[in-house]
Parts: sequence; structure tokens; C-alpha cells
Amino acid sequence: MNRRFLPRAAPLKLICLVLVALVLLSGFSYRIITTRADLQQVSYAPSPHTIALGHPTFEDVKEYERTLPQHRLSVLAAKPRPRYLFFPSEAWGTGWNNVFQEQLLNTHLAYLANRGYVFVDYIARDHPPFPDELPDGTRHMLHIPMNALTSGPTGGGSWGEGANPGAPLPVSKDWWISSCPASETVEVQLADTMKELNITDSTTGEERLVRWAEKLRSIEAECVTIIGGSPFDYMFIGGDKVLSIWAADGNYSYGNSPTLKQYAWSPLVTRAIARNFALISSDSVPPALSPTLSRITTTPGAGSAHSPYPLNAFSPLRAAAPPIRGLLGLHLRRGDYEEHCNNLAWWGAGFNAWNAFGEPPARETGRFPPLPDYLSQHTNESRFDAALRHCWPSPEIIVERARAVRAEAHGQQLSTVYMATNGKPEWVTDVAAKLRADGWDMVSSSVQMQLSRDEFAVSQAVDMGVLVAAETFIGVGFSSLTSNVVQLRLAGGRDPNTSRFW
Ligand SMILES: *[C@@H]1O[C@H](CO)[C@@H](O)[C@H](O)[C@H]1NC(C)=O
Ligand SMILES: *[C@@H]1O[C@H](CO)[C@@H](O)[C@H](O)[C@H]1NC(C)=O
Ligand SMILES: *[C@@H]1O[C@H](CO)[C@@H](O)[C@H](O)[C@H]1NC(C)=O
Ligand SMILES: *[C@@H]1O[C@H](CO)[C@@H](O)[C@H](O)[C@H]1NC(C)=O
Repeated sequence: MNRRFLPRAAPLKLICLVLVALVLLSGFSYRIITTRADLQQVSYAPSPHTIALGHPTFEDVKEYERTLPQHRLSVLAAKPRPRYLFFPSEAWGTGWNNVFQEQLLNTHLAYLANRGYVFVDYIARDHPPFPDELPDGTRHMLHIPMNALTSGPTGGGSWGEGANPGAPLPVSKDWWISSCPASETVEVQLADTMKELNITDSTTGEERLVRWAEKLRSIEAECVTIIGGSPFDYMFIGGDKVLSIWAADGNYSYGNSPTLKQYAWSPLVTRAIARNFALISSDSVPPALSPTLSRITTTPGAGSAHSPYPLNAFSPLRAAAPPIRGLLGLHLRRGDYEEHCNNLAWWGAGFNAWNAFGEPPARETGRFPPLPDYLSQHTNESRFDAALRHCWPSPEIIVERARAVRAEAHGQQLSTVYMATNGKPEWVTDVAAKLRADGWDMVSSSVQMQLSRDEFAVSQAVDMGVLVAAETFIGVGFSSLTSNVVQLRLAGGRDPNTSRFW
């Protein structure tokens, strides 16, 4: 989608530098021209296809990204210039949570290499939220800007206090394109570098991270791109080697990284949770979700899904914000999972990525957050049946498990349930009724969320925001959505005992 910028990139940069020089010489401050967009007069108008399909255009989100401080012209004039790292072969188009797992790890790798991670739009090829077929039968896939999903470091947000001052903030792909022309970009070939670094499938995750970070740090060039794949692809993330990255030595530790510790949802996700707060709690809206009063109006209907408040009225909701009192979050993956659970059981698959911290071998190392649950097997049960039991719980099992987890929740008075689910409304209604009958005061689900069109495009992230904010969570061990919720809960300082599995 950004092809048209390519041939213009080099002259543009020159024009930028000349203008910066002129501004400096004439004694004006940079503030007059603060963003590349002011200068370029680039039109970010949505394409006719986007309009014809009625897809959200995310213009406010694009404006948010365009005006991030690291996208100021003055940045390019700095000496030395910030160094960047672009992963054009990052997974795309698969489920967003698989892509996101990789993007978070790549943000951390770029940070360790003293480089700004280059973030891209998510292209909704898998599970598109809206119909995207054009009259001629081709697809016009929805492009979701990173800051519709996250505004933590991966979306260019702050690294927080105490982070390496030499690590530039992540930048958008648009910024990369105009500041890193091909002629100035060093290409690092994945396969060759894996050989050079002596990395094989048996190398630990920690070694893989350390060697890649050292290699990328040692390259002088400001613009570096990794070609031919990604050091942490979904195969690696799906295996057991990924775990050691969490507890890597010192600053290499992913579990303590600014990428995770400073994690924040986007203002769009925050706004959606704030509007629907009464579904998940009878308390008043907490400060972390309250809009800035001066930015909202009191016109009747303002703030509704039809007439939402502007995004700049919300601060990105941090993973480290206090949990929502009394809330139990459930992830109930249905639909395609019925068949997928069978496949997973046949393959003998284990729990996904960070969900495997509770497996006895991982627990015994004492190096990881001690999650209490794992893919356990009863003595009279086959592994296949055990996997199905953990993957596809029946309404009766759901009620029983929620009751047991409530009884085990030390220091919490769990009374409210939120079900993040793609289940059919009749099924969800049935489970909700059974939970209420079992003594839960309030039970709600994804089905009841009132979302604007742009919020609906990121409804998975909205659900995840609630699950991360819940006091206790029960998820699907095989799911990457659950795994991302677990890592963000741990990063946000939630007790490992509060992240459970079916
Ligand atoms: C870890 O990072 C901090 C912040 O950049 C730095 O002060 C410290 O020296 C680093 N520690 C090591 C062992 O490199
Ligand atoms: C590469 O790693 C293997 C073990 O993974 C080791 O036996 C070998 O000596 C290493 N080779 C070099 C050149 O470092
Ligand atoms: C397996 O054993 C448990 C008790 O350990 C029992 O409750 C359950 O009914 C048994 N299941 C089967 C299929 O035999
Ligand atoms: C977590 O749960 C286990 C088992 O119920 C318990 O032994 C441990 O003390 C709990 N840890 C915390 C921090 O509550």
C-alpha cells in the first residue's frame, strides 16, 4: 500500500533536511513543521474500495501515529541518527495473535540491538471482521494500524523510566520508508545469519536472542532489515525453546523487558472497554478508563457506540493498571476450535508458548512464573481425551471450573464473569444462565459489547483488554490469544496464581 512512496523517498529526505536547515537558519523552532505529513502534504484519504465496502478508515488512529514524537523531522537531523530495524518477513495475515506474539518479541530484539522496531498495519486475511470481497470477486483486505491495537512500545509508545536511553522508539513503516531508502539499507539474510551465528533448532531461545541482538548491535548502518524470514517465527514460538527467552539473563530477559512492562492497549481499545464498563463491574469507572473531561461533550448520546468520544480523550490502558475488582475473565474459544481441538489432540500438541510455564519440567527449573495449571492427564485418561478436555470444555465443566477457581482465589471476592467468546449467541446465553444459577452476580460476554465499527475491527483486542484487567482469568492453553493474555497479565504484575486454564 505504500509502494507509491518508494521512488520519492530519497528526494523527500533531501527536501526534509534542507527545510530543517532553513528553519534552523531562520531561527524558527522545529515546532512549525513538526511532522513529516505537514511537509509532504501526503493524502491519507481512504481508498475508494475502503469506502465502497464501508470499512473503518482509522483516520484518527493514523493521525495519532503520524504525530508521534519520534516522527518529527528534527529526529532525522540528530547525530547520530536513530537506528532502525525492519522485519518485512514477519508473519502476516494469520490470526492476529500469532502475528502479535512475533511482533512483541521483535520489539524486544530491536530494543536490545539499540534500534527502533518498525511497526506495520495488521492485514486481516484470516477471520476478517467485515466482508471484504469486491464486485469483481477479488478481496480488499482490511488494514488495521498498529495503534488501533496497541499503543505500548510496539506501537511507538514510551519505553518508560530506567530503559536504555540508547534505544530509539519504534517507528511506523511510513517513517521507515521515507527515512531509510533502499540504497542506505543493509539487508541481513536470515538463513545465512543463522549459520553464521551457529543457531540450530537445538540452540536455546536465550542464546538465539543474545546472538541476534549482538549481531544487530554490531552493524553500523542506521537502517537494517532482516530478509527471508524472522528469527522468532511461529514455528519457534510454538515450540518449547521460546520459554528461556522470558527468563534470559539481565537486560535480555523478555519477562522484565520494557516491551512488556510498558505494554498498553490503544486508545481505541481503551475507549471500547470504558464504554462497556457497566457490563463487567458495578463499581464506578476507574481512573485508568476515564475519559479526559475537557475532551468530551455532554450532548445527549455522546460517548455511545454511534457517537463515540474522540480517541484523544483516552490514555492507553496499561497492562499494569490495577485489576477490575471481583471480575473473573473466561476465554471460551468455540466455532472452528471444535475441529481444531481434535487436530491438536491428534498431533499431540502442547500448550502454546507462555501457557506452558506450568508444565512440570518448566516449573521445576524455578526460572519461570509458576502458573498453577498445565496439560494434565488423569491416570485412566488417554492423552487425546485429556487434550480435548483442556481444549473444549462443556458448559457443565465451565461452571464447575469457575466455581473451583472462585473457591481457590486467595484474597479475591470473585462475583462477576466476562466471557470472551466467538460462540453462537444461544450457546453463550445457555452458559451465562448456568453460571448465574451457580451464584455469579453478573455474567456478560463479547456478544453484549456495544462497539463502534472501528472498535469492532479490533474486538479481539477489546476482549483481551478485559481479560488482562480481570482479577482472575481462565483460558484455553492451546490458544495464542490466551497466551498473549497470560504474558500481559504477568507483565502487568498479576500473581501467576490468577492465570488459570481449562
Ligand atoms: C541494562 O540496561 C540498563 C539501562 O539501559 C543499563 O544501565 C545497564 O548497564 C544494563 N545492564 C547490563 C548488564 O548491560
Ligand atoms: C555450534 O554449536 C554446537 C552446539 O550447538 C557446538 O557443538 C559447536 O562447537 C558450535 N560451533 C561453533 C563454530 O561455534
Ligand atoms: C477416571 O477416574 C476418576 C477418578 O480418578 C473417575 O472419577 C472417572 O469416572 C474415571 N473416568 C473413566 C472414564 O473411567
Ligand atoms: C498459589 O497457589 C498455591 C497453591 O494453591 C499456593 O501454595 C501458593 O501459596 C499461592 N501463591 C500465592 C502467591 O498466592
